Amino acid sequence: MSTHLIELRNVSKTYSTAAGDFPALREVNLTIQAGEFIGIVGKSGAGKSTLLNMINGVDQLSSGEVIVNDNGNWISIHKMSEDQRALWRGKSMGVVYQSFQLLPMLSLIENITLPMDLSENFHPRRSRERAMELLKLVELEEHAEKLPAFISGGQQQRVAIARALANDPAILVADEPTGSLDSVTADHIFDVFEHLVSEQGKTIIMVTHDMGLAGKFSRNMTIADGELLNSETETSADRTIRRRK
Ligand SMILES: Nc1ncnc2c1ncn2[C@@H]1O[C@H](COP(=O)(O)OP(=O)(O)OP(=O)(O)O)[C@@H](O)[C@H]1O
Ligand SMILES: [Mg+2]
Repeated sequence: MSTHLIELRNVSKTYSTAAGDFPALREVNLTIQAGEFIGIVGKSGAGKSTLLNMINGVDQLSSGEVIVNDNGNWISIHKMSEDQRALWRGKSMGVVYQSFQLLPMLSLIENITLPMDLSENFHPRRSRERAMELLKLVELEEHAEKLPAFISGGQQQRVAIARALANDPAILVADEPTGSLDSVTADHIFDVFEHLVSEQGKTIIMVTHDMGLAGKFSRNMTIADGELLNSETETSADRTIRRRK
């Protein structure tokens, strides 16, 4: 039995620029089921980050609606106030930003404990322990006390992934989460994501410009010039059959 988790209905986003209006997303419709690992592939400038920023409510849409199933209640995330939306995002969704957005004055471990301490989901002692486990998961435990400026870009990206998982969110939205990683580390992160989906029932929406990853998602889509294309659905039975081949 599949459960509808997120629905995008005719979502458009037009940026106003000095040179005029620029349509970055055009009437995107997408239904995401709980437990899917969705990959959206597209070239630079295709609208991938814009699309994710509509799904996570970080940016306002121009028209359309994004609704999310929050324990049986359908909520239209762009109708919430900014504060409500930030609270909702903090407890329901982990976000990996393309530019990481780590807080420069906090150590790596503090960057990861912060969302847990804000949500009060974990006792402070447990949040520190959990942050350390997450740093281990991304193979950075020995750097825990460093500031973000003193680690490499790929290491910062892995901290951003660990932070997105801090509150154990049901949904992970990740913008090019392997973009700064070498292929071995990228494979490890991809395995972590697959495990979250197959063993913990998480839902992941990830964008990438790496066409090589396309066959690895449970559902794969392409975005070009702000339009979402060839959205093919695959059932878990199909997936099992494909893996056996
Ligand atoms: N704030 C903005 N103001 C005006 N135009 C913007 C803004 N943000 C993005 N755009 C434009 O919208 C289009 C889509 O941008 P977006 O960042 O979503 O692309 P992307 O697919 O994530 O690209 P990349 O792979 O380079 O990250 C681009 O043409 C971009 O120039
Ligand atoms: Mg982008």
